[in-house]
Amino acid sequence: MLEEGPVDFGEGVEHNMTDGRRPLIAGNWKMNGGLDAVDDLAGALAGHMASLAAAPVFDMAVCPPFPLLPMIGAAIEESGVLLGAQDCHAAAKGAHTGDTSAGLLAELGCRLVIVGHSERRTDHDETDDLVRVKAEAAQAAGMAAIVCVGETEAERDAGRALEVVIGQVANSIPAASTAETLVVAYEPVWAIGTGKTATPDDAQEVHGAIRTALAERFGGNAAAAMRILYGGSMKPGNAAELLAKPDIDGGLIGGASLQADDFWAIAQAAG
Ligand code: 13P
Repeated sequence: MLEEGPVDFGEGVEHNMTDGRRPLIAGNWKMNGGLDAVDDLAGALAGHMASLAAAPVFDMAVCPPFPLLPMIGAAIEESGVLLGAQDCHAAAKGAHTGDTSAGLLAELGCRLVIVGHSERRTDHDETDDLVRVKAEAAQAAGMAAIVCVGETEAERDAGRALEVVIGQVANSIPAASTAETLVVAYEPVWAIGTGKTATPDDAQEVHGAIRTALAERFGGNAAAAMRILYGGSMKPGNAAELLAKPDIDGGLIGGASLQADDFWAIAQAAG
């Protein structure tokens, strides 16, 4: 059975998860978006949300570059769109030039922080251990961590996709995680920005294995309430069939989140 009653997933946003997991459609802008994105993207999404006749049945989040967070936060204020960040430092504060603390992100209104994206694992040599500590920092600051996992093309070709992903799940996810403080994002590296998408069946196989691993670790009830997102060339044209799979609870979207109408169309597929 899923967790009963309202789940507080951020200020003023209560979700009743009794009837299942509430889809989360999150946009990872990566190193894209300038000042024009405040109106063109965030403002447009807020407008789309305001156009709904009834309360949305999905959560929507945007994760812009750090400097844009206050302005994007203002543009989406009271729209229901959640603010997220793309990374945080593991330490609460200190001499870490160029880094940003989870505490400051929370102060700026972030409810979510992406950690362990494959681009950071590659570009910044981030290990599972570092990703886990960053996720703990995000959780300690009152936010949910979106922990990213995913195999490379070589690992998939070698038949090691599940082994790699389950290993990352075991080592990158904090022990104290709950459905309110953890979102997992399965992002096969070979599908990111390439236009190649995992087939819905292949993605479901991995998502199912992730949920089984979460259940072994956190118990069946907690695992049943945890959201597992798919990421990797998700677009309006393929979102519905991916989101229809039982263990795909939303999307972490890169390229298609940079166009308000495309991102909104994906959210519609979740609703
Ligand atoms: P694309 O949607 O551009 O493939 O990026 C996915 C991703 O990396 C989201 O974090």
